[in-house]
Amino acid sequence: MAIPAPARTRAELLRREIAEHNRRYYVLDEPGISDAEYDSMFRELAELERQYPALCTPDSPTRRVGGEPLEGFETVQHAAPMLSLNNAFEDEEIRAFDKRLRDTLDVDSLEYEAEPKFDGLAISLSYRSGALLRGATRGDGSTGENVTQNLRTLRSIPLSLPPEASRHDMEVRGEVLMYRRDFERLNTHQRAAGEKEFVNPRNAAAGSLRQLDPRVTARRPLRFIAYGVGTADTTRFSTHASILDWLAQIGFPVARDRSIVTGCDGMLAFFRNMAERRERLPYAIDGVVYKVNRLDWQRALGFVSRAPRFAIAHKFPAEQALTEVLAIDVQVGRTGALTPVARLKPVFVGGVTVTNATLHNEDEMRRKDIRVGDTVVVRRAGDVIPEVVAARLEFRPAGALAFALPGTCPACGSAVLRNEDEAVARCSGGLVCPAQRKQALLHFAGRRAMDIDGLGERIVDQLVESGLVRTPADLYSLRLEQIAVLERMAKKSAAKLLVALERSRSTTLERFVFALGIRNVGESTARDLARHFGSLDRLIEADEAVLESVRDVGPVVARSIRQFLDEPHNRTVVQALRLADVRWEERAPAPVLAGDTSKSFVLTGALPNLTREQARAMIEAKGHRVAGSVSKKTDYVVAGEEAGDKLERARALGVPVIDEESLRNLLEEN
Ligand code: IVH
Repeated sequence: MAIPAPARTRAELLRREIAEHNRRYYVLDEPGISDAEYDSMFRELAELERQYPALCTPDSPTRRVGGEPLEGFETVQHAAPMLSLNNAFEDEEIRAFDKRLRDTLDVDSLEYEAEPKFDGLAISLSYRSGALLRGATRGDGSTGENVTQNLRTLRSIPLSLPPEASRHDMEVRGEVLMYRRDFERLNTHQRAAGEKEFVNPRNAAAGSLRQLDPRVTARRPLRFIAYGVGTADTTRFSTHASILDWLAQIGFPVARDRSIVTGCDGMLAFFRNMAERRERLPYAIDGVVYKVNRLDWQRALGFVSRAPRFAIAHKFPAEQALTEVLAIDVQVGRTGALTPVARLKPVFVGGVTVTNATLHNEDEMRRKDIRVGDTVVVRRAGDVIPEVVAARLEFRPAGALAFALPGTCPACGSAVLRNEDEAVARCSGGLVCPAQRKQALLHFAGRRAMDIDGLGERIVDQLVESGLVRTPADLYSLRLEQIAVLERMAKKSAAKLLVALERSRSTTLERFVFALGIRNVGESTARDLARHFGSLDRLIEADEAVLESVRDVGPVVARSIRQFLDEPHNRTVVQALRLADVRWEERAPAPVLAGDTSKSFVLTGALPNLTREQARAMIEAKGHRVAGSVSKKTDYVVAGEEAGDKLERARALGVPVIDEESLRNLLEEN
């Protein structure tokens, strides 16, 4: 349909006007018209675009209402990594920061741009030829999630840039947040609608931005504030402050509360001023950020690992409050770990109302000696989990009893056990405990365990929640009509699942042993156990000493096998599985080889040139073994970068630790 010239002109005018009013409202903080006038322009434009769909350009403000829901977010690679900032809490650290930088640059005094540290979510916006192309979350710094559809709904984000900013591609960085008064209003609304309230503006912003349906995001009052650029043509700028001024000029909201300060005294004065004004600011902040203002000096200072050397975040101290411990409960996690949790008289601290705080584990409890009825100090900083710092003994009621973990699991009644070398106490009813049920079933069904194709998280959730399945043995009595009624389960996939279950009945002893999910028994230990004993009954009968005679089984592994098999609840499930016709070929026990010269290796961390699989293949090709955990019987631990507990354990046990190169040499010799 041909578009009449007046309609085209009118639409262009409305689009420009609306963009300009967005700028006045969000960038200049000086609304030019009333909300009603704004809405009426918006409706007029929407009506024109409805009549003449060709008028609807990608940068039309009517496109901000949100498109179609997504299945999930795709991941995107950031053109330049999104870094983090080093933190400081004390004045002394700021003094040291200033001195370090002056020494490096060999100057007497430095100018810094000081800004609020917004308590929201880091976002990167990419523009190509002046048009918003993509918006992404920070993610791990290198890759984030593509949330363009959602970011387009924020009126404070320009969909197109003026011509002077359109010649080069650029990436603008900043924070998405919710103003506090908008947050209060949203919660009032949520409450009235019977929906879940948000704990603080940051969580509300995060929850709103990670919606798969952009129409939901469009209704949430999110804002964007820019604090810098990722990639951009900044050759004509010599300071960070002038980049921020320019960002404001081309339509991005930037912090009003920023200033150029000199030296440590300047930074600390800014900090005190912001701390004093913090409660009156429209948005939540958790500190301030200082950045060396001159860009050439920023470049000269560069980066250390994941943070710039030229900037630092000066954080406000964690807030503390006093409250009372009403009860101490014990939670059982997905892996059976028992965690004591203090139920607290609700107290407002660090921007949220705190009602619970973890007491971590038994040792921590004993060290802090927190008791029911105690008055305690609760601390919370930024987005960190609230913690109980200490009990105020002067307020302890007479007769308050020290807390001890129960001997049996509060979820299933199985024995609670704690090994000397571990801080965590665990429920031993791995196969029966409702708290561990989903995890146990997923592990049982896993590809390297019973390999039940199609039994993923979604189905397991439903099977458990509907009460159809309580233990792995229950899987084998499922009927087609029970599976077919599950959500999003077509009859065909239900039938497929039954076939997969049927097929899994015929397995091997090593898969079965691995599938039980015995703590410390990984695939390779399961293989060694199966080979050594050849039959399940012989394994069940083996005491710790016999278990320890198995290759790579040390006292820790032997004990956890015994603990698992000694729990009657687990034995019942194992028996039920055999009655359900889960079967394997039993063999004679493996003869003990004399003069076995093969060595046992444990791999940990990332090796420079080999994947885990390649390293394992190289070792096994020479007739050696790769075990999953370190014991006294381990001959070598091969450690790469970011090696963790296994490396520590190797050192503790005096097991030789080698790198990739030594591994190659060793294999060549043997
Ligand atoms: S600059 C190269 N400025 O703090 C450093 N970050 O730890 C890039 N943040 O998640 C960050 N306010 O989103 C910078 N005025 C500000 C900030 C700020 C908040 C966040 C940022 C990032 C974290 C860095």
